[in-house]
Amino acid sequence: MQTPFPEGFLWGGAVAANQCEGAYNSYGKGLSTQDVMPQGIAGPLTEEPTENNLKLIGIDFYHRYKEDVKLFAEMGFKVFRTSIAWSRIYPNGDDLTPNEQGLQFYDDLFDECLKYGIEPLVTLSHYETPLHLAKEYDGWVNRKLIGFYERYVTTVFNRYKDKVKYWLTFNEINSILEAPFMSGGIYTPKEKLSKQDLYQAVHHELVASALAVKLGHEIMPGAQIGCMVLSMPTYPLTPNPDDVIACMESEHKNDFFADVHARGEYPNYMKRYFRDHGIEIHFEPGDAELLKNTVDFISFSYYVSICETGDPEKRIAGKGNLLGGVPNPHLEASEWGWQIDPQGLRYVLNRFYDRYQKPLFIVENGLGAVDQLTDDGNGGKTVQDDYRIKYLNDHLVQVGEAILDGVEVMGYTTWGCIDIVSASTAEMKKRYGFIYVDRNNDGTGTLARYKKKSFDWYKEVIGTNGATLE
Ligand code: BG6
Repeated sequence: MQTPFPEGFLWGGAVAANQCEGAYNSYGKGLSTQDVMPQGIAGPLTEEPTENNLKLIGIDFYHRYKEDVKLFAEMGFKVFRTSIAWSRIYPNGDDLTPNEQGLQFYDDLFDECLKYGIEPLVTLSHYETPLHLAKEYDGWVNRKLIGFYERYVTTVFNRYKDKVKYWLTFNEINSILEAPFMSGGIYTPKEKLSKQDLYQAVHHELVASALAVKLGHEIMPGAQIGCMVLSMPTYPLTPNPDDVIACMESEHKNDFFADVHARGEYPNYMKRYFRDHGIEIHFEPGDAELLKNTVDFISFSYYVSICETGDPEKRIAGKGNLLGGVPNPHLEASEWGWQIDPQGLRYVLNRFYDRYQKPLFIVENGLGAVDQLTDDGNGGKTVQDDYRIKYLNDHLVQVGEAILDGVEVMGYTTWGCIDIVSASTAEMKKRYGFIYVDRNNDGTGTLARYKKKSFDWYKEVIGTNGATLE
């Protein structure tokens, strides 16, 4: 059977610590921004963690990871993407010494993956800034965060240098533009945050990211370190040149992040944007040099494409993944209003590759849907999730097309390979997994795991290196 996927293609799945681990205040872990976001990005923050916050227990991955990794291995995963919860290692973020129990947990988790030949792919910061850094320093607005992050990444690089080859610096780094608290630990309410402070925070993250690349290469010569951006192909709503220019400007806002990571300097279009908006980015001596530490690969999430228009009357906000956008009249949407566009993935892969000629890694893609647990006919339970199989199949076919186009694709990790708490709405009902977890929006459930129909489907896709896709 023929397949466009190269040998050694990294098939797998992805989660983030805060959405699955639970044990939010145990084993020396400090609070993170997620512990006070019971309703995700839409709802208000709480002063203290509250019981209605499903992430406090998550899917109890902290205690059940052995069972879960075993299931990943059964599907044939070559790679498993997770994040390290920064506040498990440095509970307050500005501590001088790390929490040994936290370090030991990730040692055990990575060992468990390696036992099955699964490579860990680790995000250093996935929407879980230590809460103390948000409250005391206003998160990444404050330049001191670079030093705290440097201490944290140096600790984990030294600790896991023989176990982890693939690292990502910040999850969806461009999402700070829309979700400054969740993404950048910025405590100032979004409506009060000036563009000046927001983009200064972006600068601090970009410098920190480049510093992580530099340190990573020094500490772990064989490692590959990538950036991670939220990708969202943007189409002009009509061929009207006003729409085309609106589309270009909207793309620039996001391109900025990967451009700096891949090219090592600020692009000219951003200099104009800063001038036009009266923004002056403060560069400390050495920053420009640091930015030259470019990434080894570009990784990204892909869920939706959007449209843009220059006509204010047609600028209706869609419900896409965090960054919004104008809905596309040609596409259907998921139950959460996220428009489904498999070809957009081929398009975005080509676009990134044309721009950077660096290897690409799709580290998030998947369908959030309501699943029904039913009898499997053999005394057990399952979910007949043909809709998920179709979604993933159609997207993977387009990955294959992009590979045939000549794009270098390192791997593909589906988002939420086991059901986890959603990021935007903080609920369990929005499920992405191949493995169903018995936990409900009201917090009830046994936390038992069940294989869905897609479990065997993905196992076959991996086993044939993509030859069974249709
Ligand atoms: C990405 C995030 O934005 O999308 C994940 O990196 C998130 O953390 C995923 O879970 C899907 O979003 P949601 O809101 O459906 O969980």
